[in-house]
Amino acid sequence: MRVTVIGTGYVGTVTGVCLAYLGHRVTCVDTDSVKIARLSSGDIPIYEPHLEELVPLAQARGGVDFTTELADAVAASDVIFIAVGTPPLPSGEANLSYLESAARSIGAAMDHTRFRVVVNKSTVPVGCGNLVEALVREGIADGGTSTQTVRFGVASNPEFLREGSAIHDSLFPDRIVLGAQEERTINVLRDLYAPLEAQDFDAPPFCPRPRSGGRVPLVTTTLTSAEMIKYAANAFLATKIGFANEMANICEKVGADAKEVMKGIGLDSRIGTAFLNAGIGWGGSCFGKDVQSLMHIAGEYGYQARLLEAALTVNRLQRQLVIQKLQEKLFILKGRSIALLGLAFKPNTDDLRDAPSLQIAERLLQMGARVKVHDPIAMRVCREQFPDLRVTYCDTPERAADNADALVLVTEWEEYGKLDLERIGSRMARRILVDGRNLFDPETARLAGFDYTGIGRCASAAVPAALVS
Ligand SMILES: NC(=O)c1ccc[n+]([C@@H]2O[C@H](COP(=O)([O-])OP(=O)(O)OC[C@H]3O[C@@H](n4cnc5c(N)ncnc54)[C@H](O)[C@@H]3O)[C@@H](O)[C@H]2O)c1
Repeated sequence: MRVTVIGTGYVGTVTGVCLAYLGHRVTCVDTDSVKIARLSSGDIPIYEPHLEELVPLAQARGGVDFTTELADAVAASDVIFIAVGTPPLPSGEANLSYLESAARSIGAAMDHTRFRVVVNKSTVPVGCGNLVEALVREGIADGGTSTQTVRFGVASNPEFLREGSAIHDSLFPDRIVLGAQEERTINVLRDLYAPLEAQDFDAPPFCPRPRSGGRVPLVTTTLTSAEMIKYAANAFLATKIGFANEMANICEKVGADAKEVMKGIGLDSRIGTAFLNAGIGWGGSCFGKDVQSLMHIAGEYGYQARLLEAALTVNRLQRQLVIQKLQEKLFILKGRSIALLGLAFKPNTDDLRDAPSLQIAERLLQMGARVKVHDPIAMRVCREQFPDLRVTYCDTPERAADNADALVLVTEWEEYGKLDLERIGSRMARRILVDGRNLFDPETARLAGFDYTGIGRCASAAVPAALVS
């Protein structure tokens, strides 16, 4: 099929490249001409594992190109995805201006030569399917074409990919959700996603099909249910992590170990082990924004979403734990040198949106501490996006640790788990380690001379590993 993807961010680029890999002819459109120039020359502006390797494979199959010219792309397409940003406004509401502008431009570029499907992949408040339809119609009228003769359907196809494993998640999704009013619209998308649903394509060599990978469930719903599914999924995941954090805080008080407790409850098949890692809270562009937006929608209907309010509060307080733990160890933070390991909101991405690291660094700087940082990937983006953040960037974790009074693990990059703690400690002024993601083994850290503190991990609860297997 001929496909246009509007918005070449984390979602749009991966979606476009994966659809081309499946054999569709894809044009990715963005208003940001610098981004498009980079993408056109094979330089991927975001860090997403294996994306750079997938682009030439996608070129050789369906083919993918990048442009700022939306009208030509839409005119030639059967399916048009909207994957623009929907960032939060100060009120918590989603900013729909990018979506609105994209929908109008799509309408203005449509003619009567074929039936087209406009697909909302951006995460949007319930009801946006109708809004997109109305705006496309307005765009058609603005473009001078009769709205009577132009045939199109609107669908909601929420995206569940995770940054850092976006290609895997796009090629081997847990489910595909399609919401639309008309069967005809759904059928076009069924055809588009047929190889994904059947899983009958060759997996790229660097992203093998999971062993469990059979047919992918395809869930068809109304537009409204599909929009709600995305919000409900993120609200559940954010709340699940919030729950793990709340339990960890109680574990710390009573002398239990949160890792053991979460393992113990996660093995219950009704609960599951995923998203139960206690830490300094979630960040990123989705959970906070989507939970706030859902609360705002509920509020419009006179419903106060108390559980979601609590999930946000627990997460906000969790980020402050690092400062509290440093104060408990060092008392005065003014003039201290603190090394932060990790800037990205999670490993395997360069995304800094709502990253706990930024809030922690800012608070430490406000309190008069010196802050040194290291991140394997996100330092360049941090320098560019936050030029006023007065931290010292260090090209290795060891340099960050040099003469530091404390080391704080903020993002659980795999390489940090392999650090030689003895060597790191020998470079520090004091061997204090605040492990914000419970990445390190407390005993190993203690043997390396560290005063170790994790999240919900009590020293007295430490049991020889052999007894807890
Ligand atoms: N990032 C994720 O992990 C993720 C996962 C699932 C869903 N989502 C949702 O997907 C949507 C996109 O997220 P993202 O992280 O890719 O955003 P992003 O900010 O990385 O990218 C958005 C892109 O859209 C472009 N854009 C804005 N207006 C445009 C227009 N009128 N025409 C063409 N391009 C335009 C911007 O220049 C930008 O490149 C959001 O609604 C988000 O909530 C994101």
